[in-house]
Amino acid sequence: MVVPEPGLPAAVTIYEVGARDGLQNEKALVPVEVKEEFVRRLLAAGLPIVEATSFVHPRWVPQLADAAELMTRLGPDGVDLPVLVPNERGLDRALELGLRHVAIFGSATETFARKNLNRSFDEQFAMFEPTVDRARAAGLDVRAYVSMCFGDPWEGAVPIEQVVAAGTRLLDLGASQLSLGDTIGVGTAGHVTALVAAFAAAGVGADRLALHFHDTYGQALSNVQAGLRAGVTTYDASAGGLGGCPYAESATGNLATEDLVWLLTGLGVEHGVDLASLVATSTWMAGHLGRESPSAVVRALGGA
Ligand code: HMG
Ligand code: MG
Repeated sequence: MVVPEPGLPAAVTIYEVGARDGLQNEKALVPVEVKEEFVRRLLAAGLPIVEATSFVHPRWVPQLADAAELMTRLGPDGVDLPVLVPNERGLDRALELGLRHVAIFGSATETFARKNLNRSFDEQFAMFEPTVDRARAAGLDVRAYVSMCFGDPWEGAVPIEQVVAAGTRLLDLGASQLSLGDTIGVGTAGHVTALVAAFAAAGVGADRLALHFHDTYGQALSNVQAGLRAGVTTYDASAGGLGGCPYAESATGNLATEDLVWLLTGLGVEHGVDLASLVATSTWMAGHLGRESPSAVVRALGGA
């Protein structure tokens, strides 16, 4: 039954990260033809944005070493799908394929900048600056992620001011949207409210933010509700709840797209996704990965 909660946005955009954040963390290497079918099925299920892969160093993330092959196979259907690029080398690889949307990914903490990017906190911006400048000069749209917004496995609590400082620096480089990552899933609703308010106080409205929750502590849906109340209208999620980050041990699966869709439908918030075909896709992918989907909704609806 649809029982809307007053004051929520009428519609949101789901930014699907399963093919990237999900598959980057799988122990088994997924064949490129399976990835291609996964992406095509996600698009067919009505997901408006499907992040496809990462142009990172293949030694760092071997699971996505086939990025160029995947995007070549997707052909014209892939040019508007965002891909991660950490640096100019990654951008060059995306430009060679004519891609139009890239995402840089920074860290709010010193330790994770070193572990994930082999750069200090300050050095990461020096790496991103020419990457974003060149991407924008070539007419590309650039999204920026900032990780460890709610806590860091090595540094513990991360001060809100530190997250706002890192996030605004990434936006100032020329990114169109900032995705706030709860990389290890420790955030809770009040923290989301406070962080979005702190960005607003720094001049970054909810319309420029996206929220990216991992569900390690089972807080992701509650955190989405806090985000909705604060006016955020873009939510990252991963089909079937796949995901994690290979350079953050305590990062488990992302918020499952199916769980998000169930919540939004119940609240009467438009999302445009066909739940049945999404569940069928995640069930099919769980079969390839040889394990049950962690998504409660996929399991409830009879999927793997
Ligand atoms: P580095 O070793 O410092 O690289 O790694 P470098 O700049 O010193 O270059 C060394 C060699 O790597 C050079 O080759 C470069 O050309 C090559 P050589 O001259 O020695 O033959 N190289 C590349 N090759 C292919 N593609 C590239 C590339 N860059 C350099 N893009 C680097 C620095 C950033 C490359 C490395 O640390 C890296 O690839 N990190 C990626 C880690 C990653 O993908 N993590 C997961 C994504 S982040 C995430 O999941 C969080 C998120 O979901 C949000 C959240 O949950 O919070 C987004
Ligand atoms: Mg993530």
